[in-house]
Amino acid sequence: MKITILPGDGIGPEVTNEAITVLTEVASAFAIDIETQEHLIGGIAIREKGSPFPEETRNACVASDAVFLGAVGTPEYDHLPPEQRPEAGLLQLRKALGGFANLRPSKAIPALIDSSPLRSEIFAGTDLLIVRELLGGLYFGEPRGFEEGRSAGYNTMRYSVEEVERVARVAFDSARGRSKKVTSVDKANVLETSQVWRETVTRVAGEYPDVQLEHLFVDACAMHLVTAPTQFDVILTENLFGDILSDEAAVLTGSLGMLASATIGSEIGLFEPVHGSAPQIAGQNLANPLGTIASAAMLLRYSAKNQAAALAIEDAIESVLEEGYRTADLASEGTEKLVSTSEMGRLVRERAVANAKGKIASHAA
Ligand code: NAD
Ligand code: IPM
Ligand code: MN
Repeated sequence: MKITILPGDGIGPEVTNEAITVLTEVASAFAIDIETQEHLIGGIAIREKGSPFPEETRNACVASDAVFLGAVGTPEYDHLPPEQRPEAGLLQLRKALGGFANLRPSKAIPALIDSSPLRSEIFAGTDLLIVRELLGGLYFGEPRGFEEGRSAGYNTMRYSVEEVERVARVAFDSARGRSKKVTSVDKANVLETSQVWRETVTRVAGEYPDVQLEHLFVDACAMHLVTAPTQFDVILTENLFGDILSDEAAVLTGSLGMLASATIGSEIGLFEPVHGSAPQIAGQNLANPLGTIASAAMLLRYSAKNQAAALAIEDAIESVLEEGYRTADLASEGTEKLVSTSEMGRLVRERAVANAKGKIASHAA
């Protein structure tokens, strides 16, 4: 497998470094042949190449089997218009790869239950998957721009039936492998795009009689996520709603640093944590690398199609937390095993490799 690695800005390089070391060692234990190449994206690419998504980065990405991204964004370029900012590089990357369904799983890890901002009786048992449409809506709709002298700004929210159908199928297919329920989230009481969304999702649901479908307005969904998150299985939603709801779903687990993502729907998978470049803690070996490491597990599941290798990493993450290790974002008063980014990476790597060897040994026996 050819994997292009884009560490990006802020904490991106630190967390990516840990994730790629875990990935490389686990892949090797499972005899998955991987070849990695690193390229520039985001603020560092603007600084060194004058563009947030340089041509050579694009060429490498489209010639890969999978792309792995850390994070983009730096305060240095916060004054730039949207199309010149580091974040534009990420949006151009997503468009170039063509994956339209962004999977963001969030679940209550028993060891972390006390790190959640929710009371444990509300959060325990939560296990949900956000399927976020990634290539449409306000992020890409035209026309967009500023009016005379920035006296106004505008964006277009547009969804075609086809765009909704393809992402809806990913949600229903995912639900079939889980608890067989899809909650489609929209704003159909106000928006035309949401009415097309709701009609289309309802029609696609006809192809999946074994999966239960419910509709929820996005404001109500935001509320249900904090009052009764265990009701959800798969949440299907458009691009901007999914961006917002996934930060909310992430922090319920204890920290935004915990959440992983996989983007599927095209030949080339894209794997990235849900969090951003966290400039305030960058370069201090403080960041939580677990969301990024879990994104490496998703790469093994979705691009390498190796479920056992993915589980070796996911089990390792849970074991390390079970043993009480915490990065600063997860620590509370009673935390005795406070660890750095690199220590957390090493702990997970050791357990993941042990898991991998154990699985292979038990398989052989
Ligand atoms: P952020 O996700 O970077 O940070 C939000 C908060 O969570 C901060 O307090 C941060 O310290 C904390 N945090 C995030 N990840 C963490 C981790 N792994 N470990 C410990 N703490 C963590 O969001 P923001 O501050 O709104 O944005 C900062 C920059 O990142 C902006 O330029 C934004 O556009 C960009 N961004 C990029 C991505 C991406 O590359 N996928 C995602 C979101 C934001
Ligand atoms: C995310 C991020 C990105 C998004 C930004 C950085 C463009 O917030 O992946 O959640 O809004 O999609
Ligand atoms: Mn986001």
